[in-house]
Amino acid sequence: VTDANKQRIAILGGTGALGTGLAQRWAAAGYPLIIGSRDPNKAVEAVAALHSMLAGGAAAVQAMSNGDAAAAAELVVLTVPYAHQRATLESVRSQLDGKILVAVTVPLMPPKVGTVQLPAAGSAAVEAQQQLGDGVRVVSALQNVAAAHLQSGHAVDCDVLVCANSKEARQQVIDLIAAAGMRAFHAGPLANSAAAEALTSVLININRAFACHAGIRITGLPDAT
Ligand SMILES: NC(=O)c1ccc[n+]([C@@H]2O[C@H](COP(=O)([O-])OP(=O)(O)OC[C@H]3O[C@@H](n4cnc5c(N)ncnc54)[C@H](OP(=O)(O)O)[C@@H]3O)[C@@H](O)[C@H]2O)c1
Repeated sequence: VTDANKQRIAILGGTGALGTGLAQRWAAAGYPLIIGSRDPNKAVEAVAALHSMLAGGAAAVQAMSNGDAAAAAELVVLTVPYAHQRATLESVRSQLDGKILVAVTVPLMPPKVGTVQLPAAGSAAVEAQQQLGDGVRVVSALQNVAAAHLQSGHAVDCDVLVCANSKEARQQVIDLIAAAGMRAFHAGPLANSAAAEALTSVLININRAFACHAGIRITGLPDAT
C-alpha cells in the first residue's frame, strides 16, 4: 500500500488503552489517523503523547470529537468499553454510513470477567451490526491482543481473528492489522466473533495464573505463511 492509498482511520475512544496502542502501531506504519474522544481536549493530549513517543516518525495524526472523527475517516475503529458501545455508536451512526466499522469490543460482565457471558445477540459485534444496519460493514477483530503489548513497541506475539460478512471489508481489515505488525486470519462470518470475544475471558484466567498478557497463536499452517 503506498502512502497515498492508505485509508484514513478514526479511532473512537482512541484515548484509552487499546486505542492508544493501535494508534501507535498505525501511526508508525504511516497511516493518517484521527483520535476521537468525547472530549476533544483529551484527544489533543493523546495526539501530543503519540507525537512525542514516535518523535516525528508519525504520519498525520489529528484530534477530534468522536462524531467529527467518524465523519472524516474512511474506516472507523470503536475502542470503548462494552457498556458504552451502544450509546457511542448511536452518537455517530449518521457518520458511519457506507463505511467499515471495526469492532474490538469484548462484552465482559464485571465482576466475573473470567467467565464467558456473551450478550443475547450472540456477540458484541453482531449487536453493533444489528444496531447500525446493512449500510455499515462491521468487522470484528483484535479482541485477544492486550493493549500492553501494542503499547510496548516490541513485536506483538499474538495472532488476530477477523470475522465479517463482507469479504472485501474483512480483507481490508486483515491488511490493516498486518500493517500494524500482526498476523490476521479470516475467521468466518461476523457471527463467529462470539468465539474471539469468548476467548478473551479464557485468556483472562491464564493472565491471572501467570501474571501476564496472554495471546493466541494459530498453528499447523503451511511453511512460510
Ligand atoms: N485493553 C485491552 O487490552 C483490550 C484488548 C482487546 C480488546 N479490548 C476492547 O477494547 C475496548 C476498549 O478497551 P480499553 O481497555 O481501551 O478501554 P478504556 O481504556 O477503559 O476506555 C477506552 C475509552 O472509552 C471511552 N469511554 C469511557 N467511558 C465512556 C463512556 N461512558 N461513553 C463513551 N466512551 C467512553 C474513553 O474515551 P474518551 O474519554 O476519550 O471519550 C476511554 O479512553 C473494549 O471494548 C475492550 O473490550 C481491550
